[in-house]
Amino acid sequence: MPGLVIVGAQWGDEGKGKVVDLLADDSDVIVRFQGGNNAGHTIVRDGEEFKFHLIPSGILHADKVCVIGNGVVLDPAILLGEIDGLRRRGIDVGNLKISANAHLIMPYHVLLDTAGEVKLGKLSIGTTRRGIGPCYADKALRLGIRVQDLLDEKILRTKIRAALEPKQQALRELSVRRRKMRKEAGEGSERGEAADQSVDDTPDPRLDLHSMVEEHVSFGHRLEPHIADTARLCWDALDSGQAVMFEGAQATLLDLDHGTYPFVTSSNPIAGAATIGAGVGPTDIDEVWGVAKAYATRVGAGPFPTELEDETGRRMLERGREYGTTTGRERRCGWLDLVALRYAVRLNRMTALTITKLDVLKGIDPLRVAVRYRSKEGAVFDRFPYHQSILHSAEPEYEELPGFDVDVEGARSEAELPPQARAYLDYISDFVGVPIRLVGVGPDREQVVWIGDEPRVQAA
Ligand code: IMP
Repeated sequence: MPGLVIVGAQWGDEGKGKVVDLLADDSDVIVRFQGGNNAGHTIVRDGEEFKFHLIPSGILHADKVCVIGNGVVLDPAILLGEIDGLRRRGIDVGNLKISANAHLIMPYHVLLDTAGEVKLGKLSIGTTRRGIGPCYADKALRLGIRVQDLLDEKILRTKIRAALEPKQQALRELSVRRRKMRKEAGEGSERGEAADQSVDDTPDPRLDLHSMVEEHVSFGHRLEPHIADTARLCWDALDSGQAVMFEGAQATLLDLDHGTYPFVTSSNPIAGAATIGAGVGPTDIDEVWGVAKAYATRVGAGPFPTELEDETGRRMLERGREYGTTTGRERRCGWLDLVALRYAVRLNRMTALTITKLDVLKGIDPLRVAVRYRSKEGAVFDRFPYHQSILHSAEPEYEELPGFDVDVEGARSEAELPPQARAYLDYISDFVGVPIRLVGVGPDREQVVWIGDEPRVQAA
């Protein structure tokens, strides 16, 4: 009974959407299990570009069931926008199922995310400001609004009222604080205005209880045909021998528990979380595939030991078109970090790796990969350090490998890759201890090289 989890192995944006789209060919059900519209997948299909934030990438396959699992936080306005967008392009969304237990990102979550970041100032995390953290916080506080609440106006009103009150209070306090900051900085000064941009004094119409309830009731009407008991749906599929793919968003090093806290997202993007976020058991998982770029990128703040702030980093940014799908921000770029990747492999107990964007490295010679870190005091770390102070100041030590200066975009088999590229992939695989099964050599769906004999997901 094959259950396959796909996870990001770095800091996100590894190209999971394309991998999921390819592996969806062999899956019956595709389930997203965490995160929200902080994620973004771009899939290029026959030259046509599709961008998703919430809907699982498998939606392009009409015969697959696509599930938004209970572990996802869902902004209903965004989801309906995606559904409408797909319909306009003639894509059937009848097979989209939404967990009744998934939590909703409410307008106050988005306001609080922004206000929280403004308040943190220089210490800000660089969130996507989509309300992810405040929504998961409400879930843990048991003040969350769930998808099923949309179907009962009375319950919805009671729950929103209970959740809204502390938010109004918090936003008021932030507003007072902002006024104080503005005064200190001098009325109308640049700093005062910058602090001002996102938090408004006047009562925000988005926080009006009556209109919020009304709007959400109408969201409920539109989403109702998709709302389902998605855990049961997964069990039925697995129990009848169908293939279920669990699609992670964000990535291992952004994991709330195991990532570079506090510069992380507010969910658990690692493979173990698929069980909670979809409602299946650990023994339902047969395989875990990690997705890593041939180099490394990160958006938002936080430690990134192999970051390059030079011409090579710029080249990766431009050739790799490293701009966020969700926020449009430039991604920070750097060398592949094998210390971090080996950590991700073990943490997720990966059974295979996919390396994406190999083509971006063309012409960079030599290639470097981080194989250990050295602390300020000279201590050597072969393993990913758990202590954030060490990680923040760790200097990577590199192994140099020969680069390649030929196009790899046209390669469709391992033999068509230049020997230096093959050696680079072998080095990665040997270092982290799992086989590489798939290599991305360009943005299009067909631009991949399968490695090994069996490019099938389904367990034997
Ligand atoms: P949040 O998830 O919006 O709260 O943002 C927390 C951190 O995770 C920030 O550094 C974001 O840039 C990062 N992040 C969130 N989602 C993604 C993603 O899909 N790709 C890459 N980084 C992400």
